[in-house]
Amino acid sequence: MTGAPARAAAGAAEGTATFDVVAACDLRRTYAIRRGAFTPPALLQAVGGISFTLAAGHTLAVVGESGCGKSTLGRVVALLEPPTTGTLAIGGIDALHVRPAQQRALRRSVQMVFQNPYGSLNPRKKVGAILEAPLAINTDVSPKARAERARAMLAKVGLRPEHVDRYPHMFSGGQRQRIAIARALMLDPAVVVADEPVSALDVSVQAQVLNLLADLQRDLGVAYLFISHDLAVVRYLAHEVLVMYLGLAMEQGPKERIFARPLHPYTQALLAATPTLDAPQRERIVLTGELPSPLSPPSGCVFSPRCPHAIDRCRAERPLPRSVAGREVACHRAEKFLDSDDNPGSAAA
Ligand SMILES: Nc1ncnc2c1ncn2[C@@H]1O[C@H](COP(=O)(O)OP(=O)(O)OP(=O)(O)O)[C@@H](O)[C@H]1O
Ligand code: SF4
Ligand SMILES: [Mg+2]
Repeated sequence: MTGAPARAAAGAAEGTATFDVVAACDLRRTYAIRRGAFTPPALLQAVGGISFTLAAGHTLAVVGESGCGKSTLGRVVALLEPPTTGTLAIGGIDALHVRPAQQRALRRSVQMVFQNPYGSLNPRKKVGAILEAPLAINTDVSPKARAERARAMLAKVGLRPEHVDRYPHMFSGGQRQRIAIARALMLDPAVVVADEPVSALDVSVQAQVLNLLADLQRDLGVAYLFISHDLAVVRYLAHEVLVMYLGLAMEQGPKERIFARPLHPYTQALLAATPTLDAPQRERIVLTGELPSPLSPPSGCVFSPRCPHAIDRCRAERPLPRSVAGREVACHRAEKFLDSDDNPGSAAA
């Protein structure tokens, strides 16, 4: 890691002033979907204007149902594909308008961890070689130092140094995800985009990997963009939460506020599906109706066909995100849910 991202991470680790390692403004990603030789392609807006900042050493959790654009947003932030429009700064540097050499450095400072650790690890390579590869490709660190750093990183993620000589298939699912996390950290990234990193693991193993991610964040000051369809999983790790639906931000803000009193009916429905010990009596709100096609999103509020609180205005006018009670919420009727008696997702209800 070099320059601003390195300073940001160091600052967070020492508990000094935080620094935004990612600043995204109105990111959009549209795909052209072919519909035959004589029909013009349809436009699918996978990400429809997302803005956020992510501070060093912090976690932004991105949640929502399948197809809402979480992975697309993750790939854009990881610089794996460009946004159609919008701006993206990594470590204070405009990541979309840089020279190739600087882009390579920025790419190193944002690493990814995927859902399926077996698929993302080369089965023919030993763990040592897998961990050393990012250093061999991107740095001039000597082979001896690379090997030492691979062993040290294995210890950091709770594996043993002698595991360098084993192949990925010789590990359990949780251990393989530890290896994938270790590989992502070999270049000291400022940000890790973790796309459903525990979804394929047993619940008990999920907790261990989440603990590991939290410990690593404390030690290294790395920031996480943590993608999950499951609010229960992000509760432990997140500082900020971004709830997405059909590519749009529904509710966005500090985890404590959103979990205590969700103001968007979609967040309320997601939360109601994940009862917790401190809110066991949440009213069950079942999400009814099909998720609309992103090729023809509903007019007005995109959630209106499934929203139990929809009124005529909701079907006519798309609500823009606005600030209500310490978070951004895209709902015409958000104030209605400030009173916990009217809020089926409220922890106090
Ligand atoms: N390369 C692509 N070309 C065309 N459409 C795409 C492409 N990538 C994603 N999409 C579409 O964009 C939308 C968002 O997809 P994305 O994978 O980002 O959702 P997701 O929230 O990660 O879903 P899941 O929880 O299932 O992983 C979907 O409708 C998907 O079909
Ligand atoms: S704007 Fe209307 S339809 Fe949309 S979430 Fe709010 S109450 Fe429901
Ligand atoms: Mg995805």
